[in-house]
Amino acid sequence: MTEAALERAFTDVHGRAPEGVWAAPGRVNLIGEHTDYNDGFVMPFALPHTTRAAVARRDDGRLRLTSAAMDGGLVELDVETLAPGATEGWAKYPAAVLWTLREAGHAIGGADIHYASTVPVGGGLSSSAALQVVTALALCELHGVGMSRQDLALLCQRSENVYVGAPVGVMDQTASACCTEGHALHLDVRTLAQRQVPFDLAAEGLRLLVVDTRVKHAHADGAYGELRAGCEAAAAALGLPALRDVAYDDLGAALAALPDERLRRLTRHIVTENRRVEEVLGLLDAGRTPEIGPVLTAGHASLRDDFRISCAELDLVVDTALSEGALGARMTGGGFGGSAIVLLEESAEAKISAAVAQALPSSRQFVTTPGPGAHRVR
Ligand code: GLA
Repeated sequence: MTEAALERAFTDVHGRAPEGVWAAPGRVNLIGEHTDYNDGFVMPFALPHTTRAAVARRDDGRLRLTSAAMDGGLVELDVETLAPGATEGWAKYPAAVLWTLREAGHAIGGADIHYASTVPVGGGLSSSAALQVVTALALCELHGVGMSRQDLALLCQRSENVYVGAPVGVMDQTASACCTEGHALHLDVRTLAQRQVPFDLAAEGLRLLVVDTRVKHAHADGAYGELRAGCEAAAAALGLPALRDVAYDDLGAALAALPDERLRRLTRHIVTENRRVEEVLGLLDAGRTPEIGPVLTAGHASLRDDFRISCAELDLVVDTALSEGALGARMTGGGFGGSAIVLLEESAEAKISAAVAQALPSSRQFVTTPGPGAHRVR
C-alpha cells in the first residue's frame, strides 16, 4: 500500500486526514537467541518490511483502530477503561502501548489509527513489536513526549509483559526502534549498550535468505514462559543474577553444579550462544563475514538439541540449505516454527533457494538486507 493509499484508507474510515504517518520494521535476529531475558547479548537487524500507522489524535478519550491486514473492522476502546488482560485480538498491542504510556505518567488521550503492514504475521519476524513500536513512536511524537529509542523499546516490552501478558525480552522492540539501515545491532541487554555493526552482505558477494516456514506449533506461547523460568531457575541454583554471569570458560563447572539435565541443557545453550554473538561480532569486525556461517549453524544445533525449540520444518530448511552449499543456516526468533535464515554465496542463491522451496513447498522466502529502524514517514 502506498502512502497515499494508506492516508486514503484512514480518511475513508475516520472521515478526516491523519496528522502523520509512521513506520516501524520487523526484524530477523542474526545471532543471540533467548539470550535477551538472560541479560546477555543479541544481534538483530531490521527488515525492510514495516508496519505503518496513519494517526490523528482525538479529544474524547476514544481509541479507534483499524488495520488493512486484520479482519474484524473497527475496534473501538475507551482509554480510561484500558486494563491489562482486557483487550482481545491484535488491538491488544496498541491498547497496551497506550495504557503503558499513561501509566508512566504521560498525558496521552484517544486517537484514530489505521495500520497497514508488510511484515509477515506469525512468521517469527516481530510483527507485534513493529505494531507496538510504530504506535508508541507516533503517540509520543504527536504528544511531544521526548523519549530515547531504547526507552521507547523498554516501554513497549513492558506493555507486552504487563498488559498482553507475554514474558518476552527486549530484543524485538529494540531492533524495531533502534536499528539502522545497513547495520546489525549489537545489544548488551544488561547494560543496554548498543553498537551499530556494518552488515553489507552484497559488497562481499553474499546473500541472506529468510525462509518463513509458515508453521507455528500450538505450544509456542506457553513454552516461552517455561524456558524463561527454567533459565532463571538455573541462574538461581548457581547463585547468580542471570545466566549471563556464567563465563564461557566456567561452563563445565556450572554444568556440574546444576541439579538436573534440563537446567544443564538450557544453561549450555545460553552460555554458548552468548559466546557465538561475540564470535560473530569479532568476525564481522575483522571483515571475515563468510566465516560467521558455521557459527550460525552451531547456533541452530544448540537451539535444536539443547534448548529444544526447533521443529521438523525448521530443521528441514536448515538441513536442505546446508546440504546445497549454504555457508550457514539457523532458525531465528522464538522457535517452534516461524522463520529460518540462510547465509549463502550469491552464486549459490538460485540452487539453494529452489531446493528449499522444493523441500518445503508451503514456505515463503525472500532475500533481505538491513533496513532502517522506526521513523516518521510524513
Ligand atoms: C521472541 C521474544 C524475544 C526473544 C526471542 C528469542 O522473539 O520476543 O524477546 O526472547 O523470542 O531470542
